[in-house]
Formats: sequence, C-alpha cells, structure tokens
Amino acid sequence: MADHSKNWGFRTRAVHVGQTNDPTTGAVVPPLHVASTFVQHHAGEWREFDYSRSGNPTRKAFETTLASLEAGCGALAFASGMAATHCVTMLLESGDHVVAGADIYGGTYRLLHKICSRAGIEVTLVDTTDLAKLEAAFTPRTKLVWLESPGNPLMSITDIRACAELAHRRGALVGIDSTFATPVLTRPLELGVDVVMHSATKYLGGHSDLLGGALVVADADLFKRLYFTQNATGAVMGPFEAFLASRGLKTLELRVREQSRTALELAKFLAADRRVARVFYPGLPTHRGHEVAAKQMQGGFGAMLSFELAGDFAQTKQVCESTKLFQLAVSLGAVESLIEQPASMSHASYDKADRLKHGITDGLIRLSVGLENVDDLKRDLDEALTAAPRG
Ligand SMILES: Cc1ncc(COP(=O)(O)O)c(C=O)c1O
Repeated sequence: MADHSKNWGFRTRAVHVGQTNDPTTGAVVPPLHVASTFVQHHAGEWREFDYSRSGNPTRKAFETTLASLEAGCGALAFASGMAATHCVTMLLESGDHVVAGADIYGGTYRLLHKICSRAGIEVTLVDTTDLAKLEAAFTPRTKLVWLESPGNPLMSITDIRACAELAHRRGALVGIDSTFATPVLTRPLELGVDVVMHSATKYLGGHSDLLGGALVVADADLFKRLYFTQNATGAVMGPFEAFLASRGLKTLELRVREQSRTALELAKFLAADRRVARVFYPGLPTHRGHEVAAKQMQGGFGAMLSFELAGDFAQTKQVCESTKLFQLAVSLGAVESLIEQPASMSHASYDKADRLKHGITDGLIRLSVGLENVDDLKRDLDEALTAAPRG
C-alpha cells in the first residue's frame, strides 16, 4: 500500500503515524508493551527490539508520531525534559562554551550552571532576541546555542531562523526548548534548528499525569549520536508514560489552539486592568516580539502568559494564593489552568542577581491557561486581584 502519511495534515498524523493497530488482536489502540527484554531467535542475532533501554515498541510509537509532527527524521523519548536537555549537553566536551537564552527554564539554568560547569563547560546567558548580543557572546569554543521561544517566564520571542543561521555560520549546533510553542505553533527544524527539545510533561502529554521529555532532529547522523548517548546513559521514557504521551498527541492540536485563543483573550483582559502594570504575551501587538512571533508561530501565540503587578513580593504571592480555578503549582501545558510566582517557584534556582538582571521580578506572575471557560477564568483573576491588598 502506498504511504500517504507525508501528505497528511497535522491532525491526521497525530492520530495515525506510528499508531498502527495491533496485528494480533485487531485492537485499534496499540498495546502497552511493558516487557524489559525481548526474545532473540539466535544468539547474537538482534531484532528490532532486544532490551527496553535500547528500544521499546510503545516508546517507539510515541517517537514516530512526534518525529512526524516536528518534521524530523527521528525522535528520542526520555524520562523527563531535563534528561532530554542533558543528553544534548553530553555531546559537549570540557572547554566547550554554550550560549543560552537569558529567560530559559530555571531547571535548564541549573543544569548549565551547576552540572555542565563541573564538566568544564562554560555558559553565557544572553538576550537571544538581540542578534548583535548573541553574536558578541560567541567565543572560538562556542559549540552550542540553546534557545527557548517563547522564553520562560517573560515570553520573549527569538527569531529562530536568524539565530540558527548565525550559529551555523559560527560552527555551533543549535538546540531549542520548544515546550511552550509545541509543533502545533512552531516547527523549529523547518527554521534551521538542529535539535528540538520538549518537556513532554507539558502540552504533549497535556493532562498533568506523566513526566517525560523528547528530542527531535532532522539529521540522521545527529540522531545516531544522541541515540548512542541516550542508550549509554539510560534516562529513557517508561512505556506507560509513552502510552499516555501518544494519547496526548492525538488531541494536541485541538488543545493548543483552544488554549491559545483563551490566553489571548485573558492577555487583553489583564492589559486593560489598572491593577496590572505589564502583560507579557506575544499575541499582543504591544509585545516586543509580536512581529517575529506572527512570522514564526502559526495559528496562535501559545497558552502561556505572564503579568507584573505594581505591588511587591508579598502582594504577588497573595494573588497567586487567592485564585480558585487557577491552581497554585509549577508546570504547565495541561487542561487545567495553573498560576505561579516565578521568583519563588519555577525560577527559584536562578541567582537572585541574574534573575533580576533578566527582568524576572518579584512582582511577576505566570499563568498556564487551560481549557476552562474563558469567562470563569477572567472572574477568577479579577477576584484574586481584588482580594490582594495593594502594594
Ligand atoms: C520550558 C520547560 N523546559 C523544560 C522543563 C523541564 O521538563 P521536565 O520537568 O519534564 O524535566 C520544564 C519544566 O517545567 C519547562 O517548563
């Protein structure tokens, strides 16, 4: 039978690529393979699967679907997003230098500064929305540029294609944490990036019930190097998580589009509120990165937004603790809306000076917008802002 999958639309691929029915039973949903090891026909004769760290059918199904959605040649699924990012940094050697975006996820900041530094890898954080600053940060030892767009928690927008071109001119590999954008809104491999990373814990899973990560690449040789590292170090995604992640992918497009629509409406609502000093959402024309976002994000600007109160740390904390529908929790990307204070939560692992230097203030609140009705979410925010005393 001819393979039409390359011509299929995003949603069709999300449902069908890699998700073949079970030839033994006819089950429409591929079974969950929990076996750790697989029988060989002869000693030393390797079949597609031999041991679950090296490959597992349920993990493979998820990887195949995701690779198709990101327009990659292959994907690798990990035990967490951090394990996926760590795998990329393990391509580096002592003495190498990394340039990373200034408002990256706090855990990535910690990995680069507290773990990679032990291996003699140097890190420079830079505002990657400014190409001149990015270029100035290069040294002859720069081997990796690590981007995040939208950035975390300020929703900074990096011109991915321009950064990839610059990095390649300087001989560096380009990776991007595309957790916020998802392949629904941005496909970085098509913009020249070498490796796309996801915390599958977030939108790919989409229901706050799994921990996982993934890397997707367009180059077969890079895939082999990353696969070797993953297999040698072992932080693979478990089969149950892979099963849930595959299920998440099937509704990814519907969720992300709808959540992005609600986020845009909430961003406008907060921007019109006098108690709010600033709103950071790339869908607002007032956002510094709006033009680039409109160019590289398709059909929405994401479901993450942050806003700053004129008040102090205590007032911000109280607003975060007063919402009823927005639950106070780190993480993001699921059907339920979450609220958090980056200074004390997602970005607590930043040095305070670094945090403030990069604009992550004590008054900042980050929202992950879920699938609830927008009017209920507006009312929830309004009541929390009213309940908190002015700073
Ligand atoms: C943008 C981003 N990247 C990476 C991670 C790390 O992912 P995980 O928690 O799955 O290790 C997170 C987690 O919150 C995140 O928000």
